[in-house]
Amino acid sequence: MTDAAKRIVILGATSAIAEAAARRWAKAGGRLVLVGRNTERLEAIAADLAVRGAAAATFVALDCASADAEAELATIVADLGGVDVVLVAYGVLGDQRTAETTPQAAAEVFRTNFTSAAAWCLAAANVLERQRSGTLVVIGSVAGDRGRLSNYVYGASKAGLGVLVQGIAHRLAQQGARAVLIKPGFVDTPMTAAVARKGLLWAKPARIGAIIVKAADKGGPVVYAPGIWRWIMLVIRLVPASLFHRTKL
Ligand SMILES: NC(=O)c1ccc[n+]([C@@H]2O[C@H](COP(=O)([O-])OP(=O)(O)OC[C@H]3O[C@@H](n4cnc5c(N)ncnc54)[C@H](OP(=O)(O)O)[C@@H]3O)[C@@H](O)[C@H]2O)c1
Repeated sequence: MTDAAKRIVILGATSAIAEAAARRWAKAGGRLVLVGRNTERLEAIAADLAVRGAAAATFVALDCASADAEAELATIVADLGGVDVVLVAYGVLGDQRTAETTPQAAAEVFRTNFTSAAAWCLAAANVLERQRSGTLVVIGSVAGDRGRLSNYVYGASKAGLGVLVQGIAHRLAQQGARAVLIKPGFVDTPMTAAVARKGLLWAKPARIGAIIVKAADKGGPVVYAPGIWRWIMLVIRLVPASLFHRTKL
């Protein structure tokens, strides 16, 4: 399979990070199916990707958190005649304080970031296993590396997803296919728009998009984005609770 013919399905294609990855795949002549819930944005992104060189850029409008993942993916893959990359990009940050006081709000974060994403991942894994080829790429987060008071509900959802993807990577490695977990640090996107001070550790979506596209071809199964976060999170995990609990991190 050449780059020009790469068939890519993106779940949560209106994400800034996903769009950056899609631009690279489009430039390489890929065939993209964009899945998301904002029809207007999907239409605009698909048109832009076509201009950038995509062999095809179509979209499917649905809510990823409530769709029947297996049935929807089966239809998309049948239309494409197979798939080379499935990118699971969608997610919500939620509000930590609200999630603590309103269990339903926490459940919503878990439903979007973990329960529904897990369903798409398992559906994709079954497709890739049958094909004996292709890569599942899933955006987790460094927030899943250690529970912290400022965002442990979001972090827990990403930690659960991360373990699932690592297990799928182990399974697919024995079947000729792959799975990769991308763990971004701070990225300047609409999700983090409320964070006022953006310093040295902040990356632009284009940088993370490039890492995703590379990881779809080789590497993993866990890719920190950018790589410096592997070492930052190693240190954060090693800080003893007696010290850690005195911080507001
Ligand atoms: N930005 C960061 O610092 C950072 C760090 C680590 C990990 N991440 C992860 O990176 C991924 C992409 O986020 P981003 O930073 O690119 O932010 P973003 O631009 O806000 O993208 C989040 C996307 O998820 C979509 N989405 C949420 N719920 C959905 C649903 N039920 N069905 C379909 N789409 C849904 C949103 O679509 P709508 O436009 O329709 O709401 C939005 O396009 C997320 O998984 C996020 O957790 C981000």
